[in-house]
Amino acid sequence: MVDINRIPHSLEFMTEKGRVALSYIDQRKLPDELVIETTADWKQVVDAIQTLAVRGAPAIGIAGAAALALFVTNNGVQSDLERVAEEIATARPTAVNLRWAISRSLEEIKGIDWSDVPNKLINLVLRMEAEDEATNRTIGHFGAALLGDGSNVLTHCNAGSLATYFYGTALGIVYCAAEQGKINRVFADETRPVGQGARLTAWELARAGVPVTLICDDMAASLMAQGTVDAVLVGADRIARNGDTANKIGTYGLAVLAHEHGIPFYVAAPRSTIDFDLEDGSQIIIEQRSPEEVLQHPINGVDVWNPAFDVTPACYITGIVTEAGVFSPSDLTSLDPAVL
Ligand code: MRU
Repeated sequence: MVDINRIPHSLEFMTEKGRVALSYIDQRKLPDELVIETTADWKQVVDAIQTLAVRGAPAIGIAGAAALALFVTNNGVQSDLERVAEEIATARPTAVNLRWAISRSLEEIKGIDWSDVPNKLINLVLRMEAEDEATNRTIGHFGAALLGDGSNVLTHCNAGSLATYFYGTALGIVYCAAEQGKINRVFADETRPVGQGARLTAWELARAGVPVTLICDDMAASLMAQGTVDAVLVGADRIARNGDTANKIGTYGLAVLAHEHGIPFYVAAPRSTIDFDLEDGSQIIIEQRSPEEVLQHPINGVDVWNPAFDVTPACYITGIVTEAGVFSPSDLTSLDPAVL
């Protein structure tokens, strides 16, 4: 029996009893331990984003807005606002949601009295949390309609509840389809080097009661070749105007494989992940992470290349599932960002 409520919220902005704080699951410790940290310190939130304690595009957007709210609530001075906002917005470069959340926060407080700013930003974070869950449930509903009965789905990285406030984007589709009895099994790519698939996707699907099988990344081709995969569902960190999509490293390869095997490849993401300012994916900044993620014990004379994301060209994407419906990547170019 599928029950999404068995998955704890990835983060929660708390405003009870005069205390304003962010609590979040330290995702680095999953699946061994479920550790929830609580902090009122905006710098700790930035650190949590940079060290992947909080990760996933929608979740880091909300965490970023929470960090700014904590800064102004805890005696932050107005003259530091711009600097702090920039530090938060650039904590990680690839997911547009972080910049989007900070821009939205600054827009919210434009022209208002400094004494009113804390309440405005606190309320905005709470609104973002509620909107995120509602958005993901709508994405889930649109995406589930694309799947047939008894579907076997392959996913990469974690685009689940843990990567959002709640419910997830790509896994939101899985949860909705599973509630409709359409999911036979989810195959989760391990997702080297950080292992979001092995540690997070597998954990949350099992916890929610969705049948899940873990595979190493290099097993996806064989799984497809034997006809086991009906659809690939992934999330996104930034989608350019032409539909090119940045997501966790390895996504591009999966998309090419899906194309070769005639398997539909869907990207699930909120409207806020689409960067209408970027013509195509070549302009997306790809975060480079530390060599230790790949090679825990350095070997003399061996260098490491560790890009955290890659860009899947739009031609390999069957559909982009958003809260406004399902679009073919080529539709995005002609859409008015204001009405999408
Ligand atoms: O480096 P991470 O773990 O933040 O990367 C996350 C991903 O690439 C997810 O698949 C993506 O953010 C979609 S989250 C709904």
